[in-house]
Amino acid sequence: MPVIFGKAPGKIILFGEHAVVYGQPAIAMPVSRVNATARVTPNISASPGLVRMIAPDIDLDAPLDHLAEDHPLASAVRATLAEVSPHHTPAFTIQINSTIPISAGMGSGAAVTVAIIRALSAFLGRPLSEPQISELAFEVEKIHHGTPSGIDNTVIAYRKPVYFQKGMPLEILQVEKSTHWVIADSGEKTPTKTTVSAVRDLYENNPQVYGEIFDQMGTLSNDARPALISGDLPTLGQLMNKNQALLQSLQVSSAKLDDLCQAALAAGALGAKLSGGGRGGNMIALAAQEDCDRISQALEEAGATKTIVTTLGEATE
Ligand code: PMV
Repeated sequence: MPVIFGKAPGKIILFGEHAVVYGQPAIAMPVSRVNATARVTPNISASPGLVRMIAPDIDLDAPLDHLAEDHPLASAVRATLAEVSPHHTPAFTIQINSTIPISAGMGSGAAVTVAIIRALSAFLGRPLSEPQISELAFEVEKIHHGTPSGIDNTVIAYRKPVYFQKGMPLEILQVEKSTHWVIADSGEKTPTKTTVSAVRDLYENNPQVYGEIFDQMGTLSNDARPALISGDLPTLGQLMNKNQALLQSLQVSSAKLDDLCQAALAAGALGAKLSGGGRGGNMIALAAQEDCDRISQALEEAGATKTIVTTLGEATE
């Protein structure tokens, strides 16, 4: 059995976070400048079934058996073994690394899970397809996130921009023109589970008002789909700003995220919004290619802890 690598990109949501949990469409893209990798090495001298897990980023080096049932990395390994090779586990070591910021709205958990499933299923001689990887990663996401919409595992498993709506066939977006984006980390962290449950409380107390906001967010995603495909920057920018205003009314923005959006717009961005669960994590700004570096610098001056410039429509993404 050879050594096998599996890789998965980070992701960013362009339109429709939170509303997607309530059945509205959302748009997300992979961000391959950051990624998670899993490397599986056979351990010929060890007895079958002995699995060693190494994850230097979290100081982990332990046998799989020693890890709790709900340990995020262990549950991805166990789910893959149960799916692909339920009756026989060879001895192997799996090492997981990630450059994706944690709890920042870039899908680090889903990316690590997808990298593990991709590498381990190939190592076991039954490489899973993208839909199969996405489905299995969704099961693992549910252990950790309660009621995920499924957008993270989907965009990360397919490694393509997606128009995603729960229960509907997936649409992979074939963009005709490249667009350029600046992603900035606010440095604040709130688990997605917390913001999703805060939004649920708002909705349950006032389904009429918040249901209407979700509908409006869904309309923005629908309007953004053709604008993203054709590279209509002014339209996309306006739609992002409207989406940010709606996210503010869901109370998932923060003073820092609002400041970063303002700083990006003041530096020439065409639109800006938070991305992901909110109350911290990342924001994203749309920019003309020549303005990306300036906007990135303005975001750092406004307090972003990290910025990433990325392109949608490159051969690699
Ligand atoms: O915080 P992230 O990047 O995992 O994004 C969460 C997106 C939500 O719509 C808030 C939740 C979900 O499951 O779709």
